[in-house]
Amino acid sequence: MRRLFVPLPIVRLLTAIAALTSLNLLTGCWLDGPQSTFDVKGPVARAQLHVFHTTLWVTAFIFVVVGSVLAYATWRFRVRPGAEKSGNAPPQGHGNPWIELGLVGASVLCLVVIAVPTLRTIWFTYDAPLAGKPGAYPVNATGYQWWFKFEYPEEQIDGAGPLVTGNELVIPAGRPVRIQLRTMDVIHSFWVPKLAGKVDMIPNRANHLWLKADEPGYFYGQCAEFCGDSHAIMRFRVIALSESEFAVWVKNQKRPARAVVPAVAADEPARPRAQFASLRSPGSTTALAASPEFDAAPLTAWRARQAADPATEDGPLIAEGRRLFQQKTCIACHTIRGHEGVGIIGPDLTHVGARTTIAAGTLENTPERMHDWIADPNHFKPGNKMYNGGYVDLATGRRLIDLREPEIKALVAYLQSLK
Ligand code: CUA
Repeated sequence: MRRLFVPLPIVRLLTAIAALTSLNLLTGCWLDGPQSTFDVKGPVARAQLHVFHTTLWVTAFIFVVVGSVLAYATWRFRVRPGAEKSGNAPPQGHGNPWIELGLVGASVLCLVVIAVPTLRTIWFTYDAPLAGKPGAYPVNATGYQWWFKFEYPEEQIDGAGPLVTGNELVIPAGRPVRIQLRTMDVIHSFWVPKLAGKVDMIPNRANHLWLKADEPGYFYGQCAEFCGDSHAIMRFRVIALSESEFAVWVKNQKRPARAVVPAVAADEPARPRAQFASLRSPGSTTALAASPEFDAAPLTAWRARQAADPATEDGPLIAEGRRLFQQKTCIACHTIRGHEGVGIIGPDLTHVGARTTIAAGTLENTPERMHDWIADPNHFKPGNKMYNGGYVDLATGRRLIDLREPEIKALVAYLQSLK
């Protein structure tokens, strides 16, 4: 029986097609994942997806045409048994000028088909709509190792500058948002896959992008430029709300931090351990998964976190947490507007209890997770400054801040009360 001989280029071609097909089948399951660029929810991401599709189909067309011609030629002019002996080589040619001209023309045509929508999209994505009313809503985003600060220049607070939040950017849906991109340290990149592509935050350089969410929604963002130890978990969220809900949110955020009970004098002695006995024990410090309710409906979970439930709050414990927040020098790095904190090295915590995530979008904001985070921040975000330089002196390795279990619980109760 004659053995079937398949030339190597054809084997390679078939392998490539099989690999592409299986990759497509595998990824097909996740095309609507939380950070999918295929499940677009705004005009900028939609325009970018359109460019991707145009490029994909043009290059797929080229692949099929070139691959078919190559496969045909390889098969048609393969070495036949005995060909070397007889010396009957196929007729040799020096090319066909018409075919060559045609190939140049076809290449130019393909490039034009790709270039026209690409240039149109570049102009579209770089020019934030400013004309007309209402114009683009301005936000300043600043990258830090490893979290994002968001400022709202249109929302000025008397004597305190613009409204500031951390790691959760709340925007009005259906309205263009113009984001000025800055960085405090190294290069970061601002990316909300479902709303807009990446734009770098570069030291000493003003960059910007604009985005718009078609409808209210909860979107996942990610730093997309390697920026050190915890780059991969330098995340953030974008929460798009209707204009009226957004106005309510802004109004609440402009308020100073919520005071559950009057501030306790700093020299009051620490409360005895017995008073914390009823609190829940610490959660696991390894599992990172969010709760099923949060996963299923993050926007609903976000809304549920906006209002406080005074019935479940422990006033004296919260007051103790507020006292510890000063005593343990948390105030040196964090601002809690209206309370004692004035630091600007870490995220503003004035309304941290109303956020769905902590640790730059890494952990769900529950009392258990916040407990784990405060107890061992370096476990969740290696290299972070709260631990390195805050808890531990980097030069000497000496422990600067020691938190006992009841102290952590009081701090968590205080921070969770800041709705
Ligand atoms: Cu910031 Cu990567």
